[in-house]
Amino acid sequence: MADKKWKTAISTHVNHEPYVRGYRLLDLVGNLTFSEAIYLLLKGELPSEAEAKMMDAIFVSVIEHSIAPPSVIATRAVISGGNSLNVGVGAGVLAFGSAHGGALEDAMKFMQEGVKSNRPVEEIVKEYLSQKKPIPGYGHRYYKEFDPRTKRLFELAEKYGFCKEHCEFAKKVEEEIYKQKGKRIVLNVDGAIAAITSDMGFDWRLGKGFFIIGRVPGLVAHAYEELTQEKPFSKRLSEEEYEYTGVEPRELPPERKKV
Ligand SMILES: CC(C)(COP(=O)(O)OP(=O)(O)OC[C@H]1O[C@@H](n2cnc3c(N)ncnc32)[C@H](O)[C@@H]1OP(=O)(O)O)[C@@H](O)C(=O)NCCC(=O)NCCS
Repeated sequence: MADKKWKTAISTHVNHEPYVRGYRLLDLVGNLTFSEAIYLLLKGELPSEAEAKMMDAIFVSVIEHSIAPPSVIATRAVISGGNSLNVGVGAGVLAFGSAHGGALEDAMKFMQEGVKSNRPVEEIVKEYLSQKKPIPGYGHRYYKEFDPRTKRLFELAEKYGFCKEHCEFAKKVEEEIYKQKGKRIVLNVDGAIAAITSDMGFDWRLGKGFFIIGRVPGLVAHAYEELTQEKPFSKRLSEEEYEYTGVEPRELPPERKKV
């Protein structure tokens, strides 16, 4: 028989019942936490107690971060235009990019390739700094000494046994940046999650997925608040809040005037 066009190892139906990664869905309901079920979906196997606790901590650490990030602005602006909750949340997810959430994926790639390459950390850092390329997972607009979220996640990773070669590499890079630059460029929360999930054995291509899964509840809360607490079309700028930088008012050339 020819190969079928669609293939999946994630789930199937047996006797009209859903099975996820080989387990009957109804057996998972009530027996697995949400994070445990997510781990099963992504990894294909049930997590240990430590893996489940670490997953939970990671998702909670990114669940919300004020009204300012681009994804929240996008969600609230789109709801304000008269759209429903799913459209607003979808717009928020589309706003994730290299400067917001995407650094997690880039940092996982950087750390996984760095560890695999066995290259000296001094050499890797020098290469980035000399080319003025930002090292993904390092630096923060507000946190200049340390990122408190990184500190907390690393404490937990230590406790649950996930501080292995990627976490060690991440810390060495932070120290090496300080040595070469004479300035502390902190390992941020994206970098911490990248190091820990890499030590948990996740592929870097899942990086944005962790951020999406963790942050969507925050976007739902913002979409709901905007829907229920604000008037439609409320997300617009007043005259004082923007600067016009275009040409002064001018006449349309006479040959263009048809009416
Ligand atoms: C987040 C970010 C935009 C903050 O940038 P910033 O506010 O300009 O940071 P600072 O003002 O503290 O930068 C100080 C210096 O460190 C450098 N620097 C900042 N982040 C750096 C990084 N990740 N790698 C190398 N150098 C970095 C800056 O270029 C600047 O150098 P200079 O003094 O020679 O001009 C930046 O650190 C970055 O792009 N990081 C990588 C992406 C990332 O991890 N994003 C997730 C953030 S939660």
